[in-house]
Amino acid sequence: MKDLNDKIPARLEHIEIATLDLGFDMPSERNTGALLRTLVATKPSGSFLEIGTGTGLATAWLLDGMDMQSTLFSLDNDQAALSVAQSYLSSDTRLTLVLVDGNQWLKDNQSQSYDLIFADSYPGKYENFDLAWNILKPGGIYVIDDMLPQKNWPPGHDIKVKQLIDQLSLRVDMNYTWLDWTSGIIIATKLAEDK
Ligand SMILES: C[S@@+](CC[C@H](N)C(=O)[O-])C[C@H]1O[C@@H](n2cnc3c(N)ncnc32)[C@H](O)[C@@H]1O
Repeated sequence: MKDLNDKIPARLEHIEIATLDLGFDMPSERNTGALLRTLVATKPSGSFLEIGTGTGLATAWLLDGMDMQSTLFSLDNDQAALSVAQSYLSSDTRLTLVLVDGNQWLKDNQSQSYDLIFADSYPGKYENFDLAWNILKPGGIYVIDDMLPQKNWPPGHDIKVKQLIDQLSLRVDMNYTWLDWTSGIIIATKLAEDK
C-alpha cells in the first residue's frame, strides 16, 4: 500500500506541533487519518464517534472528510490532550468535544447510533467493545488502529490484541479486514439484521 496523504487538513500541522510540545506519545498516524477521511465521506449527513480524541489529530482528518450536515462526537478523559483539540478544532460547529471517561459514557449512551466509530482508546476496543458495537448502525463502520506491535505497548498488550481479534472473529454480525499497513488497522462493518 502506498501512502498518499499530501492533501492534509488545514489545521493538522499546528496540531502535530502542539502534540509534540505536549509530549503526547499516542498520536494517530497521517495514514490512519487519511483512511478515516475517506471512510466518513461515504456517509453523507453522517453521525460519527471518536473514542479517544487525544490532541485531535484523527479528529481533524475526520472533520476534513465529513460533509457540512455530518456531526462528530469525540471524547477523552485527558484534559491536557483535549485542550489541544479544543484550541484548533472547537470552532467547527459539527464537532462536540467532551471530557469524560469512555467506559462510563458508553454505559450512559446506549440510545445513540453512529455511522462510523473510531475506537482509539481502551473503552470501545479492549474494554466494553460490545457497548460500542451496539451503538453502530447496521451498515456502519468500526475502525481500530495500533493492531501491529507498537513501541508504546505496555507488557502483555499483545495478549489483549489477540483476545480482541478472537472476539471479533466469533461475531456473526461483522465482516472485517485487517490491514497490515501503517500501525495495523482493522476495518469492520456491521451486517444488517437480516443477513
Ligand atoms: C491512542 S490515544 C488517541 C489518539 C487520537 N485519536 C489521535 O488521533 O491522535 C488514546 C486516548 O485515549 C484516552 N483514554 C484512555 N483511557 C480513556 C478512558 N477511560 N476514557 C476516555 N479516554 C481515555 C487517552 O487520554 C488518549 O488520549
